[in-house]
Amino acid sequence: MPVITNIDDFREIARRKIPKAVFEYVDHGSYDQLTLAANRRELQALQFRQRVMINADDRRLATTMLGENVAMPVALAPIGMCGLTRGDGEVLAARAAEAAGIRMCLSTMSICSIEDVREAISGPFWFQLYVFRDRGFSESVIERVKAAGCTALFVTVDLPMRGQRHCDLKNGVYVPPRLTLRNAYDLLTKVGWSWSVLKAKRRGFTNIQAYIDKTTGGGMMDTARWADTNFDGSLSWNDIAWIRKNWRGKLVIKGVLDPADAKIALDNGADAIVVSNHGGRQLDGAPATISALPYIADAVGNDIEVLFDGGIRSGQDVLKALSLGARGCLIGRAFVYGLMAQGGPGVAKAVDLIKEELKVSMSLTGVKDVHDVTRDVLFNPPPGGKKGRASSGRNKSRTSRRSRR
Ligand SMILES: Cc1cc2nc3c(=O)[nH]c(=O)nc-3n(C[C@H](O)[C@H](O)[C@H](O)COP(=O)(O)O)c2cc1C
Repeated sequence: MPVITNIDDFREIARRKIPKAVFEYVDHGSYDQLTLAANRRELQALQFRQRVMINADDRRLATTMLGENVAMPVALAPIGMCGLTRGDGEVLAARAAEAAGIRMCLSTMSICSIEDVREAISGPFWFQLYVFRDRGFSESVIERVKAAGCTALFVTVDLPMRGQRHCDLKNGVYVPPRLTLRNAYDLLTKVGWSWSVLKAKRRGFTNIQAYIDKTTGGGMMDTARWADTNFDGSLSWNDIAWIRKNWRGKLVIKGVLDPADAKIALDNGADAIVVSNHGGRQLDGAPATISALPYIADAVGNDIEVLFDGGIRSGQDVLKALSLGARGCLIGRAFVYGLMAQGGPGVAKAVDLIKEELKVSMSLTGVKDVHDVTRDVLFNPPPGGKKGRASSGRNKSRTSRRSRR
């Protein structure tokens, strides 16, 4: 058994154990992958102020995200086809998240259905919605999400059409999938993966299948084709106003990268936004999310909860995002590498690694409580917002956040 000490270890195991087409579907970004690389590079470029002789023995990570108590400010991001990276992947991840006291957000494009996840765990989970051309789908899925007791709806707005991932085209991961001799050999020789997928309860896009079965009928390939042709380039803020009318729970806009859009989201009744560039899988050349975060946090202040994702691979990364105004972080690839490498226990271990790293980094920067993280933990806080506001503005907003606890 290899000793796993960080998320990169999981990535390396996954690279060896999982078919190339599946691994690259997870690992890669769009076009030249500039934004994918920037997400990591800009996080790594931030440095901490090392503080000493501050009794930081008893660190408190518990907080709220979207008003819900969580053990730490981290949640599992929505991942399309998660259940093909490992059989029953969404159910395994949901169980691991629940055991760790954090939330998982289920993707519209999941393999396990909303109802499967509901059955698998007793606590709350969140749901991510793609608004397709066929608005009947959104209506029906929102009803199912309500029936499942989901507490938050994340509407993803950075994918009105798909950015191209070269690897997926080369590996035949499109609709219909292209199975070459090489692909087939690779799939069959990754025995652990093949077995997990073969014995899994589901292998198609079950959330969509349920709708198609009710409306037009059709098999798994029709479902994939339906989804592929139904991404809606005409998506606009009117659709958010419409969703708000149908959904009374927490509404989160996922995929905001510009302060102007963050303010519009607020005006349209959103409770929270996720600063995200879809993990570098959409607009290549867009800035790293960590670079956009302070501008957005300054623009919206405390009027809306700011969540963050993109490039988080450690607790140090989480601390950096909190310091620049995020209430909490979503992790995508970090948990999927764990899932691909070791299934449910791999997700649990990935989450635990991040938790321990966050604890240690808080101690070494002199922070006892996640609510007290400010830009002051950074040695080189980036520009953004008004001069001089970096510390006083953040402190002020943290104080009012604290008073809301
Ligand atoms: C394999 C994969 C599939 C994804 N599928 C979805 C999806 O179905 N819906 C969505 O809103 N975001 C999706 N995302 C984006 C993630 O929710 C998240 O924004 C991103 O992974 C964060 O970056 P990170 O992977 O560097 O943590 C996906 C990301 C990956 C890597």
